[in-house]
Amino acid sequence: MSIELPPSAAPRSVHPVDVLPEQVRNRLLELTRAGTPVSAYVYDGAVAAERARELRTALPEWADVYYAVKANSFPGVVAALAPCVDGFEVASRTELELAVSAKPVAEGAVAPVVAAGPAKSVPVLTALVRAGVEAINAESLLELHRISRIATAEGVRAKVALRVNPATTPVTGSLHMGGVPSQFGVAEPDVPGVLRAALQLPALDLVGFHIHAASNNLDAEAHAAYLRWCVEWSIRTAQENGIDLRHVDIGGGIGVAFEGEKPFDVARFGELAAQVEVPEGVKVVLEPGRFLVTDCGWYAAEVTDVKASYGESFVVLRGGINHFQLPTSWEIVHNVAVLPVESWPEGCPRPAAEDTRVTVVGELCTPEDTLLRDVKVDRVRAGDLVVFPDAGSYGWEFAMHSFLGHPVAQRLLL
Ligand SMILES: Cc1ncc(COP(=O)(O)O)c(C=O)c1O
Repeated sequence: MSIELPPSAAPRSVHPVDVLPEQVRNRLLELTRAGTPVSAYVYDGAVAAERARELRTALPEWADVYYAVKANSFPGVVAALAPCVDGFEVASRTELELAVSAKPVAEGAVAPVVAAGPAKSVPVLTALVRAGVEAINAESLLELHRISRIATAEGVRAKVALRVNPATTPVTGSLHMGGVPSQFGVAEPDVPGVLRAALQLPALDLVGFHIHAASNNLDAEAHAAYLRWCVEWSIRTAQENGIDLRHVDIGGGIGVAFEGEKPFDVARFGELAAQVEVPEGVKVVLEPGRFLVTDCGWYAAEVTDVKASYGESFVVLRGGINHFQLPTSWEIVHNVAVLPVESWPEGCPRPAAEDTRVTVVGELCTPEDTLLRDVKVDRVRAGDLVVFPDAGSYGWEFAMHSFLGHPVAQRLLL
């Protein structure tokens, strides 16, 4: 295993404790009274729902918002989002089941679900065909054949969008460009050949295209240019290849601002998107994950020990990258607040770090279990809670829960 340590936070200080909403503080303090060392995610479904409404309201009526369940699949969060999004993006049977139960449809109706993933197995494809999803984003010619065979056996026509890895997308900024060799989708030069073959398959309804070429993009103008490019490219490619275009999926990728960054301007994005001409009968799907759920989650872990080692201070948590891997995998400074906890066993020494820089580490037996480095604290003691705000996306889902076998982090909905 090799994981980059997060960048140094110096000269920053930890957040003041009042960045934590009162409800979150109260719920966490309740947990400290339960007698088990705390390691928990707390989610506020209302915050996620508000993000979805904000994006949904800014967009023109031809656009739909499908929540990418992989970002946070806690059932309470998915349920809170269900009334505020048009559908879901899923990658597995588990996510499909969650999506279908959060937004049930009448028997035989199209389920508002799209599905992507580079290695969809026959059982996954069969479940998607049976669920009657709005689009299976096919990643290769073989996958198109598999879907057609399954749909033939089920006596249905499966709706399919071809996932494309574009050669270039004419946008700059923080976007991750297409044109990079990868396991995702069909490389743009191969698209006409794959479409020709797909049109010969008996049980497919080719509805359009899926392109997911943006990642953590904070530039609203670049994202609107990307949307425009996806729509125009899809119209042109459909015309050239005899496809009856009804569906353009531009993937996820709307970013979330961390320390010192400027947040994504949703209103500006909506304003620019509205200038794109989308033909009647074509729906544009956005699949945001991170943008909808990042700020609805807090990860909190109890300080098990505070240690000094050759002049540096370490805050050791009941948790770490086994519960929350983001600061290392995204290589970001993910700042924290310290929530003081007063109760402490009488007569037991209580180590503390005061008015100094500390490094926040986890309970795993590897120096790579480091969540935050060189951050200034007024005071942190054993028994206090260290709380990471903005931990709602790719937090619990992305962590290595089994390494060392400690109990997994609890998850709670406010
Ligand atoms: C196909 C697809 N759609 C949507 C998303 C969500 O992306 P984000 O959380 O960056 O919005 C992902 C993320 O990996 C993805 O792979």
